[in-house]
Amino acid sequence: SSDPLVIFTPSGKRGNFPKGTPILTAARQLGVDLDSVCGGRGICSKCQITPSYGEFPKHGVTVADDALSEWNAVEQRYDDKRGLPKGRRLGCQATVQDDIVIDVPPESQVHKQVVRKRAEVRDITLNPTVKLSYVEVEEPDMHKPSGDLERLMTALKASTGHDHIEVDTHLLRPLQPILRKGKWTVTAAVHQGRADTTPRVIALWPGFFDKPLFGLAVDLGSTTIAGHLCNLETGEVVASSGLMNPQIRFGEDLMSRVSYAMMNKGGDIEMTNAVRDGLNQLVTDIATDAAIEKDQILDSVFVMNPVMHHLFLGIDPFELGQAPFALATSDALELTASEIGLEIADGTRAYLLPCIAGHVGADAAGVALSEAPNKSDDLALIVDVGTNAEILLGDKDGVMACSSPTGPAFEGAQISSGQRAAPGAIERVEIDPVTKEPRFRVIGSELWSNEDGFAEAIATTGVTGICGSGIIEVIAEMRIAGLVDASGLIGSAEQTGTSRCFLDGRTNSYRLWDGDEDQKPITVTNADIRAIQMAKAALYSGARLLMDKRGVDKVDRVVLAGAFGAHISAKHAMVLGMIPDCPLDKVTSAGNAAGTGARIALLNRDARGDIETLVRQIEKIETAVEPRFQEHFVNASALPNSADPFPILRE
Ligand code: FES
Repeated sequence: SSDPLVIFTPSGKRGNFPKGTPILTAARQLGVDLDSVCGGRGICSKCQITPSYGEFPKHGVTVADDALSEWNAVEQRYDDKRGLPKGRRLGCQATVQDDIVIDVPPESQVHKQVVRKRAEVRDITLNPTVKLSYVEVEEPDMHKPSGDLERLMTALKASTGHDHIEVDTHLLRPLQPILRKGKWTVTAAVHQGRADTTPRVIALWPGFFDKPLFGLAVDLGSTTIAGHLCNLETGEVVASSGLMNPQIRFGEDLMSRVSYAMMNKGGDIEMTNAVRDGLNQLVTDIATDAAIEKDQILDSVFVMNPVMHHLFLGIDPFELGQAPFALATSDALELTASEIGLEIADGTRAYLLPCIAGHVGADAAGVALSEAPNKSDDLALIVDVGTNAEILLGDKDGVMACSSPTGPAFEGAQISSGQRAAPGAIERVEIDPVTKEPRFRVIGSELWSNEDGFAEAIATTGVTGICGSGIIEVIAEMRIAGLVDASGLIGSAEQTGTSRCFLDGRTNSYRLWDGDEDQKPITVTNADIRAIQMAKAALYSGARLLMDKRGVDKVDRVVLAGAFGAHISAKHAMVLGMIPDCPLDKVTSAGNAAGTGARIALLNRDARGDIETLVRQIEKIETAVEPRFQEHFVNASALPNSADPFPILRE
């Protein structure tokens, strides 16, 4: 062909196009990812490209200086008003004149990669549900009567290429003033939740709306609500905010909230209102933080456990409190903000990930989406530790899930000196195996308790208690130092050779901190160890049950998810037998994987289909009806275990 050759990088796509073809048109025909909001009118500048000139032996072309058209009036006007970066052209205005190599910079790609923090998981491909489209609408004409909306839709269909588009009814009232204010130009936010659903206009602005759109990824925990505000064009997290779940006043843990709903008429509604109020506070905080208008937030994604899921939706969680633990609905939901009492733009969408089972919620689905065990070559055990441990086991041959009632001990509840992770809480502990003397670190200080300056370092926080990770460490260290036997009993002063062990009622306790004039000493009692034994036995038995089902007696790797998982040390967890034996370097922490899953579903609409499919395929195991669970539980109460060997641990 004698038509000029156009080569796009980085995609490598190429084709011949007649002279005068705009680069945007060539890109579209070749399926090159080049953005456009204004449909080629030279207003949005989303179509920016960088032409390259000179010799390209790799591509077999030489690009002449005049391979692209001169600047036209539209491009010139954009440059005068806003300024194009050096070397950039507007892809919708510059036309092909001769063979040319065109680079599409990341900012001009719709489906760019968002880099994730952890190396072992894949990056996220940006593919948001909401996209802006700027259109010029035909003015009304008495001789050809038609509605303003119909003319808007004609323009939108032409510019987006969609055959069908629907409109949110809340836009009918503002439609006419917006069209007139924009002098028959308008920017529409078009939402398409999944590739196979009908796109809908969910927001309109007069003229060209040149601000970015945002989405909110929310992890609605029973203790804290954490939100991340993401720029939907770049994928960046621009602000994060968290607050205590206001439902705490109705009960610390989930079961006490379920019973509050059972005992108090309208109690479930009270809790629904409380969590929604909290969420609205979070939205206000996060928008203020990021200095954006709330109406720029047009999408949101939620993950949460089943009880929170029901309370958030305004469903009485009664059925979740008793066998057979039936969910009102387990499918993913796509709602409007107003349906869940969110005070954002009327058109803002809310997507709830599917729940896996009655005890394995949308938060576990978020973990599954983020960690993708279904794409793993090696067998991964993923545990998200909270009041309930949610456990996934699988690889590309299949994934199973269960939950295990660990209770709140891992969060510092039921522990005599237990507290939430907050400044002043002991989080790290070491015990000298010879002298049996402890040293520890508290949250808020870098120093160990035996280092110079510790007293000053903790002057404001004090030493207030032990948090979840601290209690794991102290008990594991006590076990290593021989202060506790395999059955979980603390030895006496004579048996252990330290006066830190002392008779405390009918059992022994260990004094971890002597206290000072302001604060009481901190001790670990035998009842504390008992509570942790129960919790860890529940966690381990759940994991072991899945391994039985899978027919394996070891796993290739262990992933600890959740805030708690981010802080516990793999070694100490294994000393206690919380997790199955596995090389320590194969135990990783995934941080808030549920929240990351929410962010993935927010940034990539295809991920929603992926997780819905995976959740349908996951084999759900109900621990309560499995006879072997009890047997594993009894063995797992020992430290680390009375039946299962821990060969790697012993080495
Ligand atoms: Fe909007 Fe080129 S597509 S400026």
